[in-house]
Amino acid sequence: MLDQAQEDMNNDARPELSTTIDNIDEYDTIFLGYPIWWGDCPMAIYTFLDEYDLSGKTIAPFCTSGGSGLSGTPEEIQDEEPNATVTEGLSISDSRSSNSRSQVQNWLSEIGF
Ligand SMILES: Cc1cc2nc3c(=O)[nH]c(=O)nc-3n(C[C@H](O)[C@H](O)[C@H](O)COP(=O)(O)O)c2cc1C
Repeated sequence: MLDQAQEDMNNDARPELSTTIDNIDEYDTIFLGYPIWWGDCPMAIYTFLDEYDLSGKTIAPFCTSGGSGLSGTPEEIQDEEPNATVTEGLSISDSRSSNSRSQVQNWLSEIGF
């Protein structure tokens, strides 16, 4: 898995997504969650950002990681979706993920939810 993820990154791959969202136009806010892989989003996240035009929407990025944190991924997402509003991101370290309720609640309140 580590090697495959690295290879996908090196090739700037766009792995095919197994599902599609037919009614994305009905959503104003997209909560976009992912694990940090090699200091970045998994390439499938970039497939998602390529497939959907999120102009005018709000994107709230959140991740789990082994400790790297967001690693600049909100900025990468903003680059991919220049006409979307990307909120402050939330990073949860994997060792704390089962005990993260207050962190999530604080983040939601900070970004206006
Ligand atoms: C391919 C791969 C690359 C990873 N790279 C990083 C990394 O660069 N920094 C980091 O903190 N954690 C890294 N991790 C740890 C994951 O971020 C962590 O396992 C994940 O957020 C936990 O979610 P999961 O249960 O969905 O794997 C990596 C994990 C994998 C599988």
